[in-house]
Amino acid sequence: MSADAKELPKISFRQVRKEFAVRADGGSARHFVALDDITLDVAAGGFLTLVGPSGCGKSTLLDLLGGLTIPTGGTILLDGRPISGPGRDRGIVFQQYALYPWRTAVQNIEFGLEIAGVGARERREKALHYLDLVGLSAFADRFPQELSGGMKQRVAIARSLAYEPQVLLMDEPFAALDAQTREQLQTELLRIWRRTGTTILFITHGIDEAIVLGQRVAVMTARPGRIRQVFDIPAALHSETGDVRSLPLFGEVRYDIWSLLREEVARTQAARPARPPQSSPELAHVQS
Ligand SMILES: Nc1ncnc2c1ncn2[C@@H]1O[C@H](COP(=O)(O)OP(=O)(O)O)[C@@H](O)[C@H]1O
Ligand SMILES: [Mg+2]
Repeated sequence: MSADAKELPKISFRQVRKEFAVRADGGSARHFVALDDITLDVAAGGFLTLVGPSGCGKSTLLDLLGGLTIPTGGTILLDGRPISGPGRDRGIVFQQYALYPWRTAVQNIEFGLEIAGVGARERREKALHYLDLVGLSAFADRFPQELSGGMKQRVAIARSLAYEPQVLLMDEPFAALDAQTREQLQTELLRIWRRTGTTILFITHGIDEAIVLGQRVAVMTARPGRIRQVFDIPAALHSETGDVRSLPLFGEVRYDIWSLLREEVARTQAARPARPPQSSPELAHVQS
């Protein structure tokens, strides 16, 4: 592989814009700008986390990358080639990942492989491998209703990984979990990322989560979503041993990101003056 090829970003947003047509009160169509001038690269094997006020376009950006919707302007490149639709090179994990209730954990993971035409024996082997990777070997034959929220989300992650996607897109995947389970899954996701070399783009509204996971943290502006700043997270905060959250450096990085986010949330509120700032769910996110 040449030096140039190595430096080619895995994911590249080039001045991406996304508008939605919305119906105004009179019934006439109006354009609503959700994302504007998004330029952002993610290196192959990189881990980028994305934070921003509620409604700033984070999920919209991820849907574009997943090929679920198309940009109004600009281009999104994957390995230097424009994205033309969904593909098995990108796995997506949402906050609430619907597992099939009539299928066991291992059968849920096998499902996509079955659709893809992978033979019975190979897909069972793969499914069991990824189930093991997320620490659920002992629960292969359990049905979703017999699993906790954290376990279900692990199955969802294993299901996405089983395709062996080069890129994993995660939209607040741990938001619905309790704090302890969330931290555990963060640690596991980092371990899986180091082991598989998957490129990850992870959306969160938790600043701590963004710092713990991301090599880089991109902060988005309030509507329309733009990239306000990208922080490089010092390697010292990604040590595999010890409690990085208690390091003074963690607090410093956290404060910088928090300050920026607070400004953006305040801008969201300026656009909606009727709402008292203290009761805003967006600010609750920033403070959490
Ligand atoms: N399909 C759609 N049609 C119209 N507006 C949309 C659509 N999807 C998202 N939006 C709007 O785009 C903005 C960004 O939404 P979203 O990407 O879900 O934000 P976030 O994930 O950052 O909370 C919101 O104002 C939302 O209402
Ligand atoms: Mg969202």
